[in-house]
Amino acid sequence: MDNTNPPTTVASVVCSRRGLLLAAAGGLAALGGGASASAAGSTPATPAAGTPAAPPPAAPTGPFTLPPLPYADNALDPVVSANTLGFHYGKHHRAYVDNLNKAVAGTPFADMPLEKIIAATLGVADKSAVYNNAAQHWNHSFYWRSLRPQGGGDPTGALRQKIEASFGSVEACRKELQAAATSQFGSGWAWLALDGDKLVVTKTGNADSPLGKGQKPLLTIDVWEHAYYLDYQNRRADYVNALLGKLLNWEFAAANLG
Ligand SMILES: [Fe+2]
Repeated sequence: MDNTNPPTTVASVVCSRRGLLLAAAGGLAALGGGASASAAGSTPATPAAGTPAAPPPAAPTGPFTLPPLPYADNALDPVVSANTLGFHYGKHHRAYVDNLNKAVAGTPFADMPLEKIIAATLGVADKSAVYNNAAQHWNHSFYWRSLRPQGGGDPTGALRQKIEASFGSVEACRKELQAAATSQFGSGWAWLALDGDKLVVTKTGNADSPLGKGQKPLLTIDVWEHAYYLDYQNRRADYVNALLGKLLNWEFAAANLG
């Protein structure tokens, strides 16, 4: 495992089902791993409130590792409890990483950056196990950084201007996110993403993300049941509303907007 690469910033990786165009292979390659896994129950450093989470060290190719959480495992309580975080991060995310490493072992994918694996296996029937685990590793690494303690509120600066230009207001954007997250049928994700020059809210099923639509993700909300069932049972809307109001990391979205 290579831990020597410097931290990188979030970059746009754009792929289409046909073109599989990798527009940039920057920061989110960092989400492929690199730092030692932080086991559930461990206590990573908690950044000061309002401080964007530092990106994890880069490891461009496998073996992929679980990136450390950017906050303590109880830092999102009570919106996301330590119990939920322990299972979600320590069991579910870890399983995606472990299964990805098993699926790519001994194949050319083992030497590819995570985003290239996702782009190369998107829509390829006999590579669905590689795609699903790679994409879920990417999505979850992105999700942890889409949240922060004492988050929520309203964005500022260039991001706010972009949101107002695209949706009319921050509140309208928030309502679209809420609607996307609560209306996604079954497992999936709600996203704020950059589509060309405009921000959009979109939802995706299972392991898919805006990367597959040629969009650049800025924020995400995990609406798989494992994200909220221990705390909210079937009340997904309560989880989504609490997350939007108290945990959303607008600074992360602003950094992704660039
Ligand atoms: Fe999840």
